[in-house]
Amino acid sequence: MSPTTQQAFILPAKFANFYVGPRPVPQPGPGFVLVKIESAALNPVDNFIQKAGYFVEEFPGVTGNDAAGTVEEVGEGVTNVKKGDRVVYQGWWNHADRGTLQQYGLADAAEFGIAKIPGNISFDEAATIPLGLATAVVGLYGEREDPMTMGRGGRTGLIPPWDAAGRGAYSGPALVTGGASSVGQFAIQLLKLSGYSPIITTASAHNEAYCKAAGATHVIDYRKVSYPELPAAVAQITSAPVSIVYDAISLEDSQKASWQILAPNGNVIVTLPPVVGKTGADAEDGKRLVYTFGAVHDPTNREVGRAMYRALPGLLAEGLLKPNAVEVLPDGLAGVQGGLDRMANGKVSGVKLIAHPQETV
Ligand SMILES: NC(=O)c1ccc[n+]([C@@H]2O[C@H](COP(=O)([O-])OP(=O)(O)OC[C@H]3O[C@@H](n4cnc5c(N)ncnc54)[C@H](OP(=O)(O)O)[C@@H]3O)[C@@H](O)[C@H]2O)c1
Repeated sequence: MSPTTQQAFILPAKFANFYVGPRPVPQPGPGFVLVKIESAALNPVDNFIQKAGYFVEEFPGVTGNDAAGTVEEVGEGVTNVKKGDRVVYQGWWNHADRGTLQQYGLADAAEFGIAKIPGNISFDEAATIPLGLATAVVGLYGEREDPMTMGRGGRTGLIPPWDAAGRGAYSGPALVTGGASSVGQFAIQLLKLSGYSPIITTASAHNEAYCKAAGATHVIDYRKVSYPELPAAVAQITSAPVSIVYDAISLEDSQKASWQILAPNGNVIVTLPPVVGKTGADAEDGKRLVYTFGAVHDPTNREVGRAMYRALPGLLAEGLLKPNAVEVLPDGLAGVQGGLDRMANGKVSGVKLIAHPQETV
């Protein structure tokens, strides 16, 4: 039997401080499973939710998008996973039971925002994947045109590399800003699977090997070469048109450089509100801006999300997709606030911060 109460990292009200405290262990309804969460990742959006008051509208709330653990209980109609399976899943903000910064969470098995973890991947590694990968996948291969919340939307029209028609189907250079970020790591790997080469990225010098292991061919140190200087630095590496840019950083200077580097009829994907182009619309020279939204449970992302989760175990087992590097925080959920503070202060480099909810002190 699962316990009836658990420890959670709770947001008591909009803009309030998080605290670690008790809340009920939910029961899975039809299509859902209860997961005992062994590893949960921290994301910049957890800070954004608390500071900007977005996404979570019911309080007390629980944030957290990324979880890995063991299926404890299975709701009616679930056939794709069973009790005892090691799973990774993406949380959702519509209910505290679906947040992942807690000891037990509900996963939507019917929507396939869940996958079994292959034996070569640990819980910590698996928990680095959901939001980062979905943000890269939706931006690169999302199928919906609809502009969504806060102006998100647009589509590149690229075929994903888990389809035979998309694997290695593209060529020419690609640029990824922030190759050491969680999203950037996945974007590099996906672009490599799609066939792009060379893959140029920006990162601190000490993360060069991390970016190259993901598939980057050239790593530009953005602390030495500023974003206004990036177009010239890229031009020194390749004279071929750069038809795809994944701007994982998406600050004003990286977006402006990305837009400048992008070839006519190319696609740039941004992760933060656009300051260049117009979401989902072609510019006069055919340049297109896609503003990604890495939530597979959002109605506009379900199709690509389902396909991604079906492909995920195979990609991981074959070593075609690697999780992010991991740093485990101490004290379980009690260590999360310290991790979020470090993240807010730019003190996280080349790792995904992971909490072990079961080790909460
Ligand atoms: N739209 C969405 O749905 C969505 C979803 C997820 C994330 N996001 C956003 O996407 C961004 C990336 O998220 P994340 O989780 O991948 O971040 P993250 O892993 O926390 O990013 C940390 C990394 O960013 C790199 N970095 C910081 N400033 C940089 C710069 N100017 N140029 C190059 N690299 C830089 C650092 O690289 P070095 O250590 O090498 O310096 C660091 O390793 C965030 O702004 C986040 O809010 C949006």
